[in-house]
Amino acid sequence: MKSVPRHVAIIMDGNGRWAKARGFPRIKGHEQGAQAARECVEGCGELKIEYLTLYAFSAENWQRPKSEVFALMRLLEKFLKEKTPELVEKNVRLQAIGRLTDLPGTCQEQLHKTIEQTAGNNGLTLILALSYGGRLEIIDGIKSLLRAVELGHIDKAMIDVEMFSKHLYTRYYPDPDLLIRTSGEMRLSNFLLWQLSYTEMYVTPKLWPDFTKKDLFAAVEEYGRRQRRYGAVE
Ligand code: FPP
Repeated sequence: MKSVPRHVAIIMDGNGRWAKARGFPRIKGHEQGAQAARECVEGCGELKIEYLTLYAFSAENWQRPKSEVFALMRLLEKFLKEKTPELVEKNVRLQAIGRLTDLPGTCQEQLHKTIEQTAGNNGLTLILALSYGGRLEIIDGIKSLLRAVELGHIDKAMIDVEMFSKHLYTRYYPDPDLLIRTSGEMRLSNFLLWQLSYTEMYVTPKLWPDFTKKDLFAAVEEYGRRQRRYGAVE
């Protein structure tokens, strides 16, 4: 492939619809979605993509029925526990962004365990967005900047795009080059609002549980054909 994105971000949409079409409970769609996520991580490793951010649970997802939220949290915990050896073996480093302290205690513990156990890996960085909201992140960033001003660490005249970026959850990662959204919806859904300013978008009608490595490769190939101008001419 001629031009591979450094950072791919994915809105994994359509688990519920996938399950409904088969007469399964919604959680079955999420379970199948977790398998698709696993395959996608593998595909990113093969393409030597450096960062993959998955929108696994939004700040708004807490409003879903309690039973679905509970099942999703359990699935996340189980998935992390089961997949940690594979992440280590495949040299994947796990990270997470969002209001992580909102997650159930056992889920937080497992998350931090996996982060610790994969911290030395230097292949793909897999970033899970959990209890994540783009507007909340910007608010948290503003609070963090204000604190730095109050403490006299920075002068407000110094605030610019680069400095603000350093106060976001994503401060350690480059902005995504490619955003993939499944199930045909043309929305950002409060995902990485600041970071996606110049990101190339790729929307596929496929539902997330049906998204395969081949679909990932097709998205990356399409990205390679795009010309990025960042608002300038040629
Ligand atoms: C969107 O489908 C998906 C989610 C809200 C959760 C995503 C979670 C997973 C793929 C499983 C866990 C992931 C990891 C990485 C362990 P939806 O429920 O909104 O589908 P619908 O729009 O068809 O109802």
